[in-house]
Amino acid sequence: MLYDTHCHILPGIDDGSADVSMSEKMLDLQKKSGVDRIIATPHFYLSEQSIDSFIDRRTEAFEKILPAVRARKIDLICGAEVLYTESLADEDLSRLCIQGTCYMLTELPYIKLSGRFIKSFRSFVGSVFPDIRIILAHAERYLNYTDADDIYEILESDILVQLNCGSFKPFSPHTGFMYDLLRNDMAHFLGTDCHNSTTRPPNMPAAEKAISRKISPDCFGYLMHNAEKLFNGKEI
Ligand SMILES: [Fe+2]
Repeated sequence: MLYDTHCHILPGIDDGSADVSMSEKMLDLQKKSGVDRIIATPHFYLSEQSIDSFIDRRTEAFEKILPAVRARKIDLICGAEVLYTESLADEDLSRLCIQGTCYMLTELPYIKLSGRFIKSFRSFVGSVFPDIRIILAHAERYLNYTDADDIYEILESDILVQLNCGSFKPFSPHTGFMYDLLRNDMAHFLGTDCHNSTTRPPNMPAAEKAISRKISPDCFGYLMHNAEKLFNGKEI
């Protein structure tokens, strides 16, 4: 039983699946690769919508694919991929957590991270802990915009870390960083971050193969075990 902790499989809510038909194809690909526990994490941008509006739209999208989810015997729960801004501190963040949990998947802006930004983010993490546990989405992806040292500084705060399956592909510039995190127990979850069935499809098997070969099958098992706990709202 495999778990996907980050994906854009709900139809018509963000830049992920465009419609129910696309979501069905993505569900089929997930099922084919052995993934049958999925956390749907549509983008949430506070500058663009209220939490109320986001949750209404997410519920509507979820209900549209519920028959397809049930037909495939997949368990799917909802969360969000929340873009960090300082204004989040004024919101009821429990509503953006993965349903039934205190864990909120959070992404950083794609910029060179300044010292001021890092300080602000770390202060935010400290202020919401332990009521809200922050999971940093695709920690490796920020290497495209900022230095590894900046990310390591972010990781010194009390957060959990998710890595993208697609970043484990051969010749990816991020694999060294990701394997370092895994070897040092600084990464906790895997997510496909799939957006469609073609250019950004679900891709768990390639990551499983890469991690098992480069580190160990147990390491992949550890990531899945954490995902199981996350899915069930248990402490990690
Ligand atoms: Fe994402």
